[in-house]
Amino acid sequence: MHRGGDAGESAERRDAKIGGGRFRDLADEQIFERFGERGAHPSRDRGGQSRGYGGLALRVEQEQATGVVFVGWHEFRIGDGAGDRRGWHEFRIGDGDRGIEGPMHLFSPLGIRGVSFRNRIAVSPMCQYSCEDGFATDWHLVHLGSRAVGGAALAIAEATAVEERGRISPGDLGIWKDEHIAPLARAAAFIRAQGAAPGIQLAHAGRKASTFVPWRNGGGEIPLEDGGWPTVAPSAVAFHEQGRAPVELSRGEIGGIVASFAKAAGRALEAGFQVVEIHAAHGYLLDEFLSPLANRRTDEYGGCFDNRVRIVLETISAVRGVWPESLPLFLRISATDWAEGGWEIGDSVELARRAKPLGVDLVDCSSGGMVPWAKISPSPGFQAPFAERIRRETGVLTGAVGLITEAAQADEIVRSGKADLVLLAREFLRDPYWPLRAARLLGAEVAAPPQYARAW
Ligand SMILES: Cc1cc2nc3c(=O)[nH]c(=O)nc-3n(C[C@H](O)[C@H](O)[C@H](O)COP(=O)(O)O)c2cc1C
Repeated sequence: MHRGGDAGESAERRDAKIGGGRFRDLADEQIFERFGERGAHPSRDRGGQSRGYGGLALRVEQEQATGVVFVGWHEFRIGDGAGDRRGWHEFRIGDGDRGIEGPMHLFSPLGIRGVSFRNRIAVSPMCQYSCEDGFATDWHLVHLGSRAVGGAALAIAEATAVEERGRISPGDLGIWKDEHIAPLARAAAFIRAQGAAPGIQLAHAGRKASTFVPWRNGGGEIPLEDGGWPTVAPSAVAFHEQGRAPVELSRGEIGGIVASFAKAAGRALEAGFQVVEIHAAHGYLLDEFLSPLANRRTDEYGGCFDNRVRIVLETISAVRGVWPESLPLFLRISATDWAEGGWEIGDSVELARRAKPLGVDLVDCSSGGMVPWAKISPSPGFQAPFAERIRRETGVLTGAVGLITEAAQADEIVRSGKADLVLLAREFLRDPYWPLRAARLLGAEVAAPPQYARAW
């Protein structure tokens, strides 16, 4: 058996191939010691044709008490001479004891900290506007639960308000009081029982709060006399020019909001969620601090980049303070405002770089929502390049979202290393069983729940 060195590449060249930076090579022996023969044969399953192997390059992605996650690139050759095919496999080793998972694809499992996701498909958070006083109902159990039944690896509950005034609408889900925990726990337990991980997005709507549920009164701002409430934001700048201006938060209140996110994370833990996603996208409160278009402050929370990202970094640290080391933390961002003078992808790369050491495991890359005059031209997978760039330049795991509807499209995003996870929103509203259908189309062996097995 030939191990390593076949390609005759120096470590530097290999590092360059995989993006350079903070990668370090492990000797093949170390890999063998740790993972046994599987470690050197990620492509052995391909008809037993494998003959020679090139160098192995691994970088340590996370070293946790729960295990080690590596991301590696393995050069392979298949064939016996002139017709050799050469290429690179990317693979991930999760949780130490699970071994190499083979080349990454839509149905390869993903280990993050102590959680093992059965594939790379997540239900993107989607407001259901179906609550009263923030309480989850049977709708949430069915909405999230049926998509877990349909094969998603992760179902993320919608933007869930960490403060009552942080709701987009009176129908929003909430987690600002302990009484909210019980119905959330019911949904989380059901999702988990289906083999999926339950996640929850923690949110504050900032200046975009206090609007009607979209299908009532045509949506839009609720007048104070009709039950609307004063909104808060980094600066007293309204979202719509003709809209009600929010109240500028004091420095003390900013600390209170950070603390509300942490308390909410504690409740999410009690409810049994395995993933928390901090919502810092779509022009809601945390995003409003990031963007110069909404943040006109002159104190340490406004002005330069360091100041504008401060509340997001503080929130990450506060949430990580209560969210266990064994559980993943995601951050959703708008990678760009799509508007002149606003937040841009380069800012997102730098934010991701700073968020990672504070304990963010995955950056969920959405975009837009900051100003009504943004110029966006959505097309299939249009936000995936943001996920790809952030992943490549920072080494953080990323999620791609936005007009991902086809099995092959989603598979390509994962295979080509654009993102580690795909999040689907509207396609999941059309078809809760999308992952099962995608598995059939891609030839992956995925079992439907036994109750439904006769249909698949
Ligand atoms: C009904 C609905 C509700 C949504 N609510 C949220 C939300 O609560 N939080 C969030 O970050 N994004 C929300 N989004 C955005 C989606 O998560 C997703 O980013 C967007 O729809 C693009 O993905 P798609 O093309 O697969 O629908 C919502 C989208 C829809 C359609």
